[in-house]
Amino acid sequence: MVFNQLIFMKTNNKPYFINIETISDNRGTLKYLEMKKTKQIFNFKRIYFISNVPNNVERGYHAHKKTVQCLLTLNGNFDFYFFGIKKKKNKIKLSAKSKPLIIPKMCWHWMKNFSNDCILGIIASSLYNEDDYIRDLHVYEELIKNNHA
Ligand code: TYD
Repeated sequence: MVFNQLIFMKTNNKPYFINIETISDNRGTLKYLEMKKTKQIFNFKRIYFISNVPNNVERGYHAHKKTVQCLLTLNGNFDFYFFGIKKKKNKIKLSAKSKPLIIPKMCWHWMKNFSNDCILGIIASSLYNEDDYIRDLHVYEELIKNNHA
C-alpha cells in the first residue's frame, strides 16, 4: 500500500519501463526478473497471458484500484495507450524487444493493433478480483479528480 502510494506520487500513474536482467550467449538469450529487485514496486501474486487477439480488437479500457502490473511483450507487437495528466492520450509501441512495462495502479489503459503473433505475459501484484477494476471512465475520472487532483 505504501509503495503503491509512492509509485503514484513518483509517476502520476504513468507507466514506465524497468530493466530486465539479460544473459545472451551462443545458446540464445535468457532474461529474468527477481522479486528482490522488484519488491519495491510490487510483489508477484499472479501471471496471466494474452494471445490470439484478432487484429481489429481492442482490449483493456480499465484501471486498477490497487493492482500494479508488469507487462512483458513475449512475442510480436502492439500499441499500448494510457491517459496521462489532464487525460492526455499517450501511445507506446511495444514489441518483444521492449523492456518490461510497469502499469501502476489507477492507470487507465487500453491496447490495440495486435500483430497476429503477439503474446503478452502480465505479472500482477494481486489475485484476480473484479472489485479491483474500474471499467467506467467517468468513475475513473471522478476518482482521479477527488483523490489525486
Ligand atoms: P479483461 O480484464 O476484460 O481482459 P482485458 O483487460 O485484456 O480486456 O478479462 C477478460 C476476462 O477474463 C474477464 O471475464 C475476467 C477474466 N480474468 C480472470 O478470470 N482472471 C484474470 O487473471 C484476468 C486478468 C481476467
